[in-house]
Amino acid sequence: MKRIAVLTSGGDSPGMNAAIRAVVRVGVRKGLEVFGVERGFCGLIEGRIKKMSFNDVAGIMEKGGTILRSSRCEEFRTTEGRKKAAVKLREHNIDGLVVIGGEGSLTGALILYEEHTIPVVGIPGTIDNDIGMTDMCVGVDTCLNTVVDAIQKLKDTASSHERAFIVETMGRESGYIALVSGLTTGAEAVIVPEVPVNYDTLSSRLLEERKRGKINCIIVVAEGAASAYEVARSLENRIGYDTRITILGHVQRGGSPTAFDRLLASRMGAQAVHALLNGDHCTMMALELGKIVHVPLKEVIENKKTLDMSLYNLAYQLS
Ligand code: F6P
Repeated sequence: MKRIAVLTSGGDSPGMNAAIRAVVRVGVRKGLEVFGVERGFCGLIEGRIKKMSFNDVAGIMEKGGTILRSSRCEEFRTTEGRKKAAVKLREHNIDGLVVIGGEGSLTGALILYEEHTIPVVGIPGTIDNDIGMTDMCVGVDTCLNTVVDAIQKLKDTASSHERAFIVETMGRESGYIALVSGLTTGAEAVIVPEVPVNYDTLSSRLLEERKRGKINCIIVVAEGAASAYEVARSLENRIGYDTRITILGHVQRGGSPTAFDRLLASRMGAQAVHALLNGDHCTMMALELGKIVHVPLKEVIENKKTLDMSLYNLAYQLS
């Protein structure tokens, strides 16, 4: 293996740059030529492939987003699109590809391998933490800190005005961001897609707590469960608070990565190069009990991550 490429695909997540930096620097130190593909799989189809040097990735670790830019590429979902991408890789004599992204991107990488036998290695990069077989994905920790910071600020106003705030988080079909941010800010309730909500029971409990003297109420809802507006409508006039809505949106995806994400991304980036060199192809770098391990990409895609119900129960017990 002499020439490898790296791309970021799908929703950006904080720490992607640290992963790119590690791939480039470890690759160069191992004597490889390393290429960056701009704009994810769309850029690959268009042949937007440029050589990267050790210095090209200087000063990027602390930056949010991805210097290679990203895309959600419809064309890559087609056989024809993937064929074009494979041709571009072969034209550039690329022997291995590192794909940093979420579930859709890693699925794309798997199919590219299966259809064109191009050695691929994945790095789970998404704020959603919905990728199987890894404890954490790159970007999750930073996202959680952003959400916690926002909820903490809302709590100031909630207490001052004796209000309820319904805070909607991202996460697609996963309730992880809502659950962990709710647990770590002491939210009164967390609504996630994995657990059906009973608004009658919830409103009775919240009203009871209000009567007992609670002066604020934070409800965190995952976008995959319901919108903050739906929750507000379902609880309106039943919980004893004037209610406000906050939809956090894309602020959850940005910002300088935390030390945890920089470290995770650096370790996974370095391991991705080792995996390509060792012929450990079609694997994903995963965090398992503190160690970075290589897990088969196919198994990752087949085993979607489920919500840790012990965390859900803990959030409930502590609320
Ligand atoms: O997968 C990351 C994510 O931020 C999800 O949490 C969210 O549902 C989605 O991407 C939003 O995508 P877009 O930025 O394309 O609107």
